[in-house]
Amino acid sequence: ATSWKKRVCHLPPGPQPLPLIGNLNVVDLKKPFQSLTELSKLYGNVFTVHFGPKKVVVLAGYETIKDALLNHAEEFGERAEIPIFREMTRGNGIAFSHGELWKAMRRFTLSTLRDFGMGRRTIEVRILEELNSLIKYFESYQGKPFDTKMILNNAVSNVICSILFGERFEYDDPAFLTLLKLLNENTKLLGSPMVLLYNFYPSLGFLFGASKTVLQNISELSAFLQKLFREHKEDLNENNLTGFVDAFMMKQQQESKKPHSMFHNESLLFSTLDLFAAGTETTSTTMRWGLLLMMKYPEIQRKIQEEMNQVIEPGEMPKLEDRRRMPYTDAVIHEIQRFANIVPMGVSRSTPTDVNFQGYVIPKGTEIIPLLTSALNDELHWKTPHQFNPSHFLDADGNFVRREAFIPFSIGRRACVGEGLAKMELFLFFAGLLRKFVFQPPPGVNKAELDLTADVGFTLNPMPHLLAEEYGPV
Ligand code: HEM
Repeated sequence: ATSWKKRVCHLPPGPQPLPLIGNLNVVDLKKPFQSLTELSKLYGNVFTVHFGPKKVVVLAGYETIKDALLNHAEEFGERAEIPIFREMTRGNGIAFSHGELWKAMRRFTLSTLRDFGMGRRTIEVRILEELNSLIKYFESYQGKPFDTKMILNNAVSNVICSILFGERFEYDDPAFLTLLKLLNENTKLLGSPMVLLYNFYPSLGFLFGASKTVLQNISELSAFLQKLFREHKEDLNENNLTGFVDAFMMKQQQESKKPHSMFHNESLLFSTLDLFAAGTETTSTTMRWGLLLMMKYPEIQRKIQEEMNQVIEPGEMPKLEDRRRMPYTDAVIHEIQRFANIVPMGVSRSTPTDVNFQGYVIPKGTEIIPLLTSALNDELHWKTPHQFNPSHFLDADGNFVRREAFIPFSIGRRACVGEGLAKMELFLFFAGLLRKFVFQPPPGVNKAELDLTADVGFTLNPMPHLLAEEYGPV
């Protein structure tokens, strides 16, 4: 029989913590998601890890993540309080806010994204225009190998920028490129050992210079946004709202008489910044994985092109309405997201109350890591989890099949608000580029040498690489 003490305070099991460092002796801060995956093999699907003095409960495997994030949606539905994000946003915005403020921002964001075309024709047209510019840029290399990082960043970012501000930025706009570089640097730093240590030991913050760089970058990004806000405020016209920012400003006017409106300027700044950052990095990183994988697996690339030749008229580009007749392409895009696994530890949640879960008691305010990588590689759900294999999403007749354990956008109350937009972009950009070009490794590079190991940050990126293109079948 369990003792009284054990029953009352029954945290999930885990490695024995040491004084001061907790379990940092068994966690590789350069690849924490891998260490956590290994620990789940020893301690099961719900376990406790001590990151220094901070106690964290990890959820591993699709069934466990689903049980927590969907079946116990409220109890695992808060965002964790993470020191660096706290410093960055002071609790504002969508992704790292809490309680009523989060609820108001999330509701406003979802309805405004819908108004400005997420999941509708208008945004499809915008993405296809951007694709045109992107193709012209690719063509300008005339088959010479080049690095796709900044250009994909820029093209993807232009889609969210048109939703936010009603404008796009030219690919050679130096101010905008600087902005994207700051964003890239932060995404990398936010997953770096130094910033992780800052999050575990915030009171020793002065030791960890990387967190200062992160904050400095945020203030530069903010300055850029503030300038745009001023322009939008001057030209604000309620009969011609250009995007999210205008809609937010209208809401501010409507609420100007309310004493405690949550639509204050800090909300505007950090909601915009959240959408800009989350809407740029993730989708363009996934695109880059996709093109790298197509260089690595030319036979898969060829099959996509053959499918498009069957389904799409000569000279035409793929549209969203073609997707249901392109099951192979759809399967490859899903497999890219599964395999690339770009947010391997999700975004930490927390418990707003004490929670009884699978026989354990998790105290109020405990940080929760939904280990998304463990669902995307779950051996109970995927035939060859560690292999790039589009047939994960195909039945024996070649029809597309949805897979429950496919959760790159996470699930539940705080799941990604950009899922619909990201899926439209991935389909139109990816299929469109393959319609136009055949991608291959630079001359002298064998496809076997292409490196698929990840450059670890807050997201998993492909290692720097070059891509060569020649004209495809259109
Ligand atoms: C949250 C993944 C694209 C905006 C998240 C989360 C994940 C994620 C894993 C954490 C959700 C949770 O805690 O349950 C991705 C991936 C993307 C992508 C893999 C692309 C391939 C986008 C885009 C936008 C966006 C295009 C902008 C429109 C957000 C926001 C949140 C979020 C605002 C915070 C939601 C909240 O806390 O309520 N995303 N995302 N994401 N994403 Fe995305």
